[in-house]
Amino acid sequence: MIATNAMPGGHLPEPVRQLLSERLKAGSLEMPMLPDVAAQVVQLANDPEADMRDLARILHRDQAMAGHLLRMANSSLYAGPTPIVSLDQAVARLGLAKIRGICLTIACKGEIFQADGFSDEVRHLFKHSLAAAAFAQEIARSRRWNVEEAFLCGLLHDVGRPVLIHALVGIHKQVGIPLNTPEARGGVKQAAAALHAHVGADLISRWALPVRLVETVRYHHEPHRATTASQTTMMTALADDLAHLLYGPKDISVEALQSHPLLDPLNIYPDEFDALLEKQEAVKQIVESLQ
Ligand SMILES: [Fe+2]
Ligand SMILES: [Fe+2]
Repeated sequence: MIATNAMPGGHLPEPVRQLLSERLKAGSLEMPMLPDVAAQVVQLANDPEADMRDLARILHRDQAMAGHLLRMANSSLYAGPTPIVSLDQAVARLGLAKIRGICLTIACKGEIFQADGFSDEVRHLFKHSLAAAAFAQEIARSRRWNVEEAFLCGLLHDVGRPVLIHALVGIHKQVGIPLNTPEARGGVKQAAAALHAHVGADLISRWALPVRLVETVRYHHEPHRATTASQTTMMTALADDLAHLLYGPKDISVEALQSHPLLDPLNIYPDEFDALLEKQEAVKQIVESLQ
C-alpha cells in the first residue's frame, strides 16, 4: 500500500486522481506479472540449494526466451572470448545470478516497459535503466560488491514509472478522459515521477526479488532512509545520476557529478570516480546492444 501523502496533487484530473488513490490504498493497482520463465528463475535464485540442472530445464521450456537469452549472453555485457552457442553452455558459463539478470532484462524490454501512447517515453526510460544498471555494475566492481545484484538495482530502480504510466493510461480510458494534450500527458508523467519508487518497490516485492533490492528501489531518491541496504541504495542513486549524464532527462554536468554528495559516504576517491566516468562509452555500447 502506498502512503496517501505521497499522492501527487493538482496534475491529474480529479476522477483519475481519485481512482488512482483508491487503487493504491487498496493495493489493487494493475501490476504486471513476470513472464513464467523469469518468475521461475527468480524463485530458483532465492533457493540456496538451487540446482543448475533445474535452471537448464526451466530455460529449455521457452524457445522464444531461449533465443533472446543467447543473443544477450553474447552481447558486449557478457561476451567472453568464444561465443555461447547453447543454453547449457550459457548456464555453465554465466551461472544463475547473471541469467536472472538476463531474464529480467528481457522481461523489462518485452513486457514491463510498455505503455500505450507513451512508447517514446517508455523506450527512453528503458535506455536510462540499462545505463544505470551498467554504471551500478561498474561501481560494484570497483567496491568488490555483488555485481549481479548491482545490475538489477540499476535495471529496476525506475520500474515503477512505466508501470504507473501504463496504469494511468488505463484509468484515463476507464473514466473517459482523453490523454491528448501536453498538460494531460505531463500529469501522467508527474504522477509516475512522484510515486514510482514506492510502486516499483511493491512490484518487485510481489515478484519475490530479495528484500535488499526492494529497499534499494524504494529509497533510491532518498538513500538516507535505507536501513538494511544503505550502501546499495546510495550506489544505485549515484548510478542513476551517472545514467542521467548520458541520456538525461535530468540535466547534470560532469563537474556536478565530481562533487556528488554520495561519493564520500560511498568511499569513492576522485581518481576512482574519474575511472567510472571514463566508462561512459562502454556503458553506451552495452545500452545500444541490449535494446
Ligand atoms: Fe527514480
Ligand atoms: Fe532513474
